[in-house]
Amino acid sequence: MAEPLRVGIAGLGTVGASVIRLLERQAAALAARAGRGVKVTAVSARDKSRDRGVDLSGVIWFDDPVALANSKEIDLFVELIGGDEGPARASIEAALLSGKSVVTANKALLAKHGMSLAKLAEDKHVALAFEASVAGGIPIVKTLREGLAGNAIRRVYGILNGTCNYILSRMELEGLSFEACLADAQRLGYAEADPTFDIGGFDTAHKLAILTSLAFGTAVDAEAVHVEGIQSITLADLKAAEELGYRIKLLGVAQRTDKGIEQRVHPTMVPKSSAIAEVMGVTNAVTIDADAVNELTLVGPGAGGMATASAVVADIADIAKGIRSAPFGLPTSILEKAARIPVQRHEGGYYIRLSVHDRPGAAAAIATRMAERQISLESIMQRKPMHKRGALASANAEAVPVVLITYATSESTIRDALEAVVKDGYIAGAPQVIRIERE
Ligand code: HSE
Repeated sequence: MAEPLRVGIAGLGTVGASVIRLLERQAAALAARAGRGVKVTAVSARDKSRDRGVDLSGVIWFDDPVALANSKEIDLFVELIGGDEGPARASIEAALLSGKSVVTANKALLAKHGMSLAKLAEDKHVALAFEASVAGGIPIVKTLREGLAGNAIRRVYGILNGTCNYILSRMELEGLSFEACLADAQRLGYAEADPTFDIGGFDTAHKLAILTSLAFGTAVDAEAVHVEGIQSITLADLKAAEELGYRIKLLGVAQRTDKGIEQRVHPTMVPKSSAIAEVMGVTNAVTIDADAVNELTLVGPGAGGMATASAVVADIADIAKGIRSAPFGLPTSILEKAARIPVQRHEGGYYIRLSVHDRPGAAAAIATRMAERQISLESIMQRKPMHKRGALASANAEAVPVVLITYATSESTIRDALEAVVKDGYIAGAPQVIRIERE
């Protein structure tokens, strides 16, 4: 049997410690599959004294991850530090420059520097592998890059952030507040160090930018993604969606259109009958719509130590076997630039929730503004006021929720109609608008 692959791991948080455990647990099977053993020979982390529940005796300790990356004691560098600059970037660059393959789970860094790092890996003839960077334990990178190589992909969309799906699921099922659900997600270790990355949609955007490149042969570019988070979603929206046969999910969607590749992250209404609607809690799911397979959905754990370690170990196993794919499926020189498609040009159905002053003519005025622009309504629902009718009918100005679902139209048409509705003076506050994604 060939010499074992010597692995150096930088970052010993939940994922790093789980990788060490999994490599130990699967040592015999991995050696049999790869034709060589896999051995962690060196590590680097901030605090040497911390008990991580793994045996580090006989493993060389480096305080500096760049020194580990440059070390002659390792053949492969695994980066699990996180962050899009600083030690993560410096150590990956050092490892690649010194001719070592790299495995990373760092989606933020790949979204920002993926192209230059892939080019460096290409120049040095080494691997840059990142299965763990998108959707945790779901092997979506290999699925797109290798498994679906015979397909032209039309659309990739999915739930790519466990924290947001956990928050939306608990709000819907248990009627809990946004803040309480976020605090639980942080306590359970799902959320990023800065949870704005999760709830603001940025973590999903980083992952989507990576998937878009793999699916459509474009250069990774997070700046080309339209991003909206889940902060504006209320219990009223979740309840209305439920009654109308939909669920609200934070989706990342990349789609080939006649205007180019549309990349967007936003709260989305999905029909309750769709595979993606059934995905609750911290679970992730990705649906791929392609010409040969039609539709394929992968569902699995999107965060957590062992699930993410599973993806890291899969990459390590490939490198032990000598497999080296182009990181984004194509040589970097032929990846096309991803143009940002303005969201105003998006076409689809819309959910609109308005707070309407309850007086004669309000509903007719709203319907007129829609009809003037050829917007066709699939449904319209007006809730009863919270108070008894008799007491407030005379005031004639109580705001009641009115929910509309439209058939497909363009975003610019919807925005224009709503501007006119606001000017008419029948509604209080700003309209809530959520895009609908149909199968
Ligand atoms: N914060 C991320 C999530 C972790 O909630 O999905 C996995 O990338």
